[in-house]
Amino acid sequence: MADALAIRGGTPVRAEPWPLWPRSDERTAAAVTEVLTSTRWALSGPSDGRVAFERRFARDFADFNEVAHCTPVTSGTAALTIALQALGVGSGDEVIVPGLTWVACASAVLHLGARPVLADVDSATLTLDPAHAAEAITGRTRAIMAVHLANSVADLDAFTELSARTGIPFIEDCAQAHGARWRHRRVGGYGRAGCFSMQQSKLLTAGEGGAVVIFSIPEEAARAAVSDPTVMIGSALGVFAYVAGHAVFARYLGFPFIPGAGELAVICGARRTSTAGSAPRS
Ligand SMILES: Cc1ncc(COP(=O)(O)O)c(C=O)c1O
Repeated sequence: MADALAIRGGTPVRAEPWPLWPRSDERTAAAVTEVLTSTRWALSGPSDGRVAFERRFARDFADFNEVAHCTPVTSGTAALTIALQALGVGSGDEVIVPGLTWVACASAVLHLGARPVLADVDSATLTLDPAHAAEAITGRTRAIMAVHLANSVADLDAFTELSARTGIPFIEDCAQAHGARWRHRRVGGYGRAGCFSMQQSKLLTAGEGGAVVIFSIPEEAARAAVSDPTVMIGSALGVFAYVAGHAVFARYLGFPFIPGAGELAVICGARRTSTAGSAPRS
């Protein structure tokens, strides 16, 4: 029976059950209690002087991804939608997405009234094939969505080159690739925006949640945000304690307000980000 499959009575390769997922420890519970017993369950709640978990997570996750900016949002789908809308994607536009991915890649496009155009994936990496993506470009193509599927990284050299050649921006869907690297840098900072999910099954999970990261914000966008009168009045009144951090980012992304993640939602993510090592590129 030595060579028989386990289902036919052979020895199973693994006798132990798989570890439970997601996992948390006493530090997670302590952080949740800290939020529950405070009056600040969201960034817009009254501040007690401590730095909000949301801001801590944004900083930690930006550092972890080796990018300048991160804004936590409610889900990976929200992250994709925000990034696409920031690129001006709207009714009548086309966005190239891989034919093999999670449905959110297409539904984020549809949500904006645009049309997802499916292009084939590379048979070795199962990620969007740059040559097929190039063939799918039409006069209506507004963006390309490179998805790093199951921690397998799309060819970011090719998409950077394609984008420079055609003037069509690309974004990275990193929902399944927290910590993955392309050459010397973490994924997420190569495209115009990197979109993460923290949904239940993800490598970095908070049950639900997401984040948009940006490698750097052009100086002119930052200047425009700082001179925006609504931003300045908001800061002066202290109504939105987070306004300075979010405003530059929101302005760059073209959103007046970002659907931000609550204090409780970022806790699990913050814990893991501060303890995680590099995930190998597969
Ligand atoms: C590749 C990919 N993109 C986007 C998403 C959407 O993320 P969320 O479920 O947080 O909206 C997922 C998650 O399921 C995903 O696997």
